[in-house]
Amino acid sequence: MRTLNVALGARAYPIHIGGGLLQQPELITRHLRTPRVAIVSNTVVAPLYLNSLVGGLEKVGVGMTPPIVVPDGEAHKTAATLDIIYGHLLAQRCDRSTTVIALGGGVIGDLAGFAAATYQRGVPFIQIPTTLLSQVDSSVGGKTGINHPLGKNMIGAFWQPQLVLADTDTLNTLPDRELSAGLAEVIKYGLIRDLPFLEWLEANLDRLLARDTEALTWAIERSCANKAEVVADDELETAKEGGRALLNLGHTFGHAIETGVGYGEWLHGEAVAAGMVMAAELSRRLGWLSGADFERTVALLERAGLPVESPALGVDRYLDLMSHDKKVIAGRLRLVLLKGLGEAVTFSDAPSGDVRGAIEACCVT
Ligand code: NAD
Ligand code: GLY
Repeated sequence: MRTLNVALGARAYPIHIGGGLLQQPELITRHLRTPRVAIVSNTVVAPLYLNSLVGGLEKVGVGMTPPIVVPDGEAHKTAATLDIIYGHLLAQRCDRSTTVIALGGGVIGDLAGFAAATYQRGVPFIQIPTTLLSQVDSSVGGKTGINHPLGKNMIGAFWQPQLVLADTDTLNTLPDRELSAGLAEVIKYGLIRDLPFLEWLEANLDRLLARDTEALTWAIERSCANKAEVVADDELETAKEGGRALLNLGHTFGHAIETGVGYGEWLHGEAVAAGMVMAAELSRRLGWLSGADFERTVALLERAGLPVESPALGVDRYLDLMSHDKKVIAGRLRLVLLKGLGEAVTFSDAPSGDVRGAIEACCVT
């Protein structure tokens, strides 16, 4: 098992990465305020991994509410599903010392985390991510929330977990399309701040696609190390330039795709991949990224099985959807762009002709 630390002072927490961690309940119990938990999962993950988690916790004397199993999918990352979780916590008389455990991908982590952040003004929370995307990104850093019909992740809170437990064995049951979606966020770390990692990914992508445990574990560790460093420096994303916003390379375009085509049609990682191509194209138009480096970016994403062309929603529709982005400050759109491979910046002054041109050039014709 590999362990990293998210250095947030009094709210610091470990990320454990490795195989067989679901069968090690003592990794969890040392982080419980009282031995009572409420596990939130969904109809796909619960049949696969709930018994293993519950069995282990029972053995060490942890009390549990009946598991909260919600419908699967991005389309259910809603206020309605959140209400199901609140209702259950209340009906089971959970108090402020009950720990909420998220067992699932990023949708479950975001939902359960937001429930934990808001139930009785905040209860302890543990992330057990079971997708590659959630193990490399969403379980770390404390962003929690739900979607609104007008915008992705628009309602939420920062709420750090007590622990992240990434059991790499769970990736064995992940569909290929979901593995690829996770690779989008892995590639993102290389593009924004870690050129050596990007080069490692170019050399080892086939091992990752073949689910080589050693390669996957290394990719998760390196991704989490990058994320932990960024989050420790700018937890609440308040830096005027750069900072945590850089983790959103491709996300402003990607969120527009997700909202524009309807939640759940494109996977989050797929939308991020196509969005990163738009960001790279705009960076190329600004003269920051060479044609060769643009092509290198597209080639790696394509090899990972990710879409590199965006749906033709129309440029005006993209711009309208992007205007809801959380990085908009006083009406000005702040984009994450690439000064080069491994070096992202935030930029608010992209000429609108270039932004429009980049969107148009990257859409399916
Ligand atoms: P997801 O949670 O929908 O999981 C993908 C699919 O895989 C689902 O059908 C899920 O039930 C299934 N699944 C999960 N684990 C499995 C396993 N081990 N075996 C088989 N099937 C499994 O999607 P995701 O890609 O994990 O996460 C995407 C979400 O994360 C989006 O809502 C996105 O906005 C959010 N996100 C949040 C942050 C953050 O910082 N909070 C960062 C990135 C993404
Ligand atoms: N996924 C972006 C962030 O956590 O800030």
